[in-house]
Amino acid sequence: MAISPQTIEEVNRVANVYDVISDYLPLKKTGSVYVALCPFHSEKTPSFVVSPTKNIFKCFGCGISGNAIKFVMEYEKISYFDAIVKIAQKYNIPIKYINSDKDNLYKGLYSITRAITEFYKENLKNSSIAKEYIKKRGISPQTVEEFEIGYSPTDANQLKKYIQEKNIQIEDLEKIGLITLNIDDIKDKFSGRLIFPIKDIKGNIVGFGGRTLEEGKQPKYLNSPDTVIYKKGNTLYGIYQSLPYIKEKESVIIVEGYMDLISLHQIGIKNVVATLGTAFTKNQAKLLKKYAKEAIVMFDSDESGKKAAIDASKILLSESILVKYAYYTSVKDPDELSKQGLSKVKEVINSSKDIILFLLEKLKETENYDTETQLKKYQTIYGHIVKIIAYIEDPVLRNSYIQIVSQKTGRNFQSVEADVEKIKKLIEREKISKISIEDEDSIDLRLSVKEKIILKYLIENTHLLQDGDFYDKISYFENLKYILELMKTGNTEPIQHIIDSIQKEKLNISQESVKLILEEELKKIEVNQFLSIGLEHQTDVNKILNKLITLKRRR
Ligand code: UTP
Ligand code: MN
Repeated sequence: MAISPQTIEEVNRVANVYDVISDYLPLKKTGSVYVALCPFHSEKTPSFVVSPTKNIFKCFGCGISGNAIKFVMEYEKISYFDAIVKIAQKYNIPIKYINSDKDNLYKGLYSITRAITEFYKENLKNSSIAKEYIKKRGISPQTVEEFEIGYSPTDANQLKKYIQEKNIQIEDLEKIGLITLNIDDIKDKFSGRLIFPIKDIKGNIVGFGGRTLEEGKQPKYLNSPDTVIYKKGNTLYGIYQSLPYIKEKESVIIVEGYMDLISLHQIGIKNVVATLGTAFTKNQAKLLKKYAKEAIVMFDSDESGKKAAIDASKILLSESILVKYAYYTSVKDPDELSKQGLSKVKEVINSSKDIILFLLEKLKETENYDTETQLKKYQTIYGHIVKIIAYIEDPVLRNSYIQIVSQKTGRNFQSVEADVEKIKKLIEREKISKISIEDEDSIDLRLSVKEKIILKYLIENTHLLQDGDFYDKISYFENLKYILELMKTGNTEPIQHIIDSIQKEKLNISQESVKLILEEELKKIEVNQFLSIGLEHQTDVNKILNKLITLKRRR
């Protein structure tokens, strides 16, 4: 559910930076400002400054700055909306929500998935073959409890009886993807399977995975289809249970399967998520990026696992999440590995290497390419390396990898760079988009044409929303602020009509126009508020513009 713009406005108005920050840090008065040791980087002398008159904070050590909301977001590592809620509570501001039909539908369906989960859990208790299977797989009762593992009975009457009792509509079962409405029978797709409920980051049950108990039966796993509440590529299995551990370590282990995740959790490795056998997606990377700086890819040890690991690395690195590759050969997957004990698993995790460095080592082994096969192998591995690097969007990160490759292979920087550029062009050609630069006949929204242009640009470059620097500045555009926050959290439903109509508009969004608009508008921003504590506005503007322009060029 989305928080109403009025509430957000109210919180913005009331939130006092001194008040809020002093709940977290001891602040010491120095002249007209307060200082403290910066909580966002380590330091011995305080360079973190709070200015109550300007109602902002800034660290002169690491450069972070902003208002009370920003502080709470960064300090607690929570979203903008969660920070708003926190501060609203502090000031006893009532939180109003925009209640869309979709929100209500979601809530309704979550209560259905919850009820069905309870049904499955209850049935596990009554099924000796399922309990037997759980035992055989070494899943402990606590794990069953924590992951709410269940069993779908083969007798269809059970479900019928249950939904009657609970007054659950058959249509709702279809909406959550449990049954297909055909003739007049209710048949649970998951019947006879062990059930793994799939939760979103907030703990809502959005779908199910079901494993057959019969060896050799196909498909081995059945998953919920995409529904209004479940989008495969946006979810990661285990994220809800693992989140506190991922946040703590700022590192996430990514595995392929339900059982891989469960077994790792059970032996105490808890910062894990599972992709559920499908290709890792950009949205999944964006989700993880909020909490983790690095990902340890721990896929199956077979060829397809390796291939999937390389593909996942591209996506992760494109979002600037550093990737380590967990290499092991003794067994087929992390589930089996965990059976060798915690210390063995830790050994594999601790010896995991940066994916590029790992591939460079493999490359070294084939370096003397005296045979045809070795030459082929060399080319394949080199190709992988270059492709992964070509996906990296951050130019600094990309160049530092090119540097490393150049050092380790003895090729000069320019020729590695040229190889990367070649691939990049191919990738770009694939996603060359459809912006037509034509006249500006705009639809009547309350946004100005300028704002629409910026918004359209952002819709097509949503990764910019993850960039704190960029974001700080752009959010000074009052009208855009609310929309941007929604986009950032991915909850675009309340503004979908705006996005839709903007995407239909033929706005002129050449590089120059975006640049001009930003320059013009940023000049208008009340930079004065920063001046007293010395933020060099112009430098910031230039930084943003350069970023925009390099990004634009690369498209
Ligand atoms: P695996 O085949 O590696 O399964 O597929 P696993 O985790 O080792 O399963 P167990 O140990 O035999 O029980 C990895 C993941 O791919 C998805 C599932 O999410 C599975 O956990 N998958 C696999 C399917 O969705 N359908 C299938 O038929 C097979
Ligand atoms: Mn497996």
